[in-house]
Amino acid sequence: MNGTEVNRTEQRIRAALASVIDPEIRRPITELDMVGRLSMTDAGAATAEIKLTIVGCPAARAIERDVLQAIAAVPGVSAVEVEMITMTKAERDALTLKLRKGRPKTLQFGPDSLTSIYAVTSGKGGVGKSTVTANLGVALAARGLRVGIVDADVFGFSIPGILGIQGAKPTRVDDMILPPVAFEMKVISMGMFVEANTAVSWRGPMLHRTVQQFLTDVYFGDLDILLLDLPPGTGDVAISIGQLLPQAEVLVVTTPQAAAADVAERSALVARQTGQKVIGVIENMAGLVQPDGSVIELFGSGGGADAAARLSTDEQPVPLLASIPLSIGLRAGGDSGAPIVLSDPDDPAAVAIESVADYLATRGRGLAGRKLGLSPR
Ligand SMILES: Nc1ncnc2c1ncn2[C@@H]1O[C@H](COP(=O)(O)OP(=O)(O)OP(=O)(O)O)[C@@H](O)[C@H]1O
Ligand SMILES: [Mg+2]
Repeated sequence: MNGTEVNRTEQRIRAALASVIDPEIRRPITELDMVGRLSMTDAGAATAEIKLTIVGCPAARAIERDVLQAIAAVPGVSAVEVEMITMTKAERDALTLKLRKGRPKTLQFGPDSLTSIYAVTSGKGGVGKSTVTANLGVALAARGLRVGIVDADVFGFSIPGILGIQGAKPTRVDDMILPPVAFEMKVISMGMFVEANTAVSWRGPMLHRTVQQFLTDVYFGDLDILLLDLPPGTGDVAISIGQLLPQAEVLVVTTPQAAAADVAERSALVARQTGQKVIGVIENMAGLVQPDGSVIELFGSGGGADAAARLSTDEQPVPLLASIPLSIGLRAGGDSGAPIVLSDPDDPAAVAIESVADYLATRGRGLAGRKLGLSPR
């Protein structure tokens, strides 16, 4: 190869490296300034220097493999050598600033954010918030939307288990936290910061700081949808979310039981007091369809419609978005970390969750005050 050809091949290598995506930050490594020196010999032996954000970066192997593949595929390259090094502090600072779009450290989902934020709440515990949140997220991400999940249940985190990422740890780049990715979603949970089987027992201020840190230090990038899985009831976390994200819209999960619907209504009213809008009720654990077609209504019926009717006002109708039946598959998928919307999409529970995902995916961004051309179902 002559000098011009070598130059052209180097350019092609750089272009090819734009196809290598950092698995944690989810942006091309070229955009993240992770590509250092590139060189080529006349014989076509390429050497590339890749700068990792941190020492021992868990994604190093994947990046190295993808870089090798990308360069090997460039015409004119006969051999590839990749040298993995680590960014300097100054380079890392420049990167974190770039990821924050030049803004100092602030809440990522400020009032001007275009991300639709949905807080999944309930009055009573154990009604299926986390199961619904996780499956909804998976269903939305499968539609190609950029989805993040914040497990705001700091004491009772269960999202990592439902998504099968119990051991996953976020990567720290100085004071920026890169969340693990599961089913194409960026996910953060207290469960990723504590050792297995340890309890988190904090008072309000610590809880508030944790939730705030999730929303400030965790790098989500541009998201279409952020789902927040709240702890049951109207405790400190719900109030913190109300203060930190007043633009969040609320999805209320309740069982068909009349008593559960009562409590659900109370939690929704608290959300309203912090300025959040309740956009729908999801009934969960509705009648279990037997193989012979008969239905067992373990938790009664009508609670979802009842809560929706009671939460509706003239200005703000609150629809019942879906009634998710009791489902062994939904429960088992949560236990094994294989969300049912992917593993068994024909299960009636998966179908019901998909209908909520359709609704959220098409209603567009919930900018405050914006009139949406959709009638409630
Ligand atoms: N439709 C359903 N059919 C069968 N089991 C379900 C259904 N929905 C949820 N479950 C199961 O019920 C249990 C509680 O669900 P989940 O943890 O999602 O509730 P939660 O409201 O998040 O609870 P908490 O208030 O403790 O956060 C889980 O074991 C889950 O698998
Ligand atoms: Mg939960």
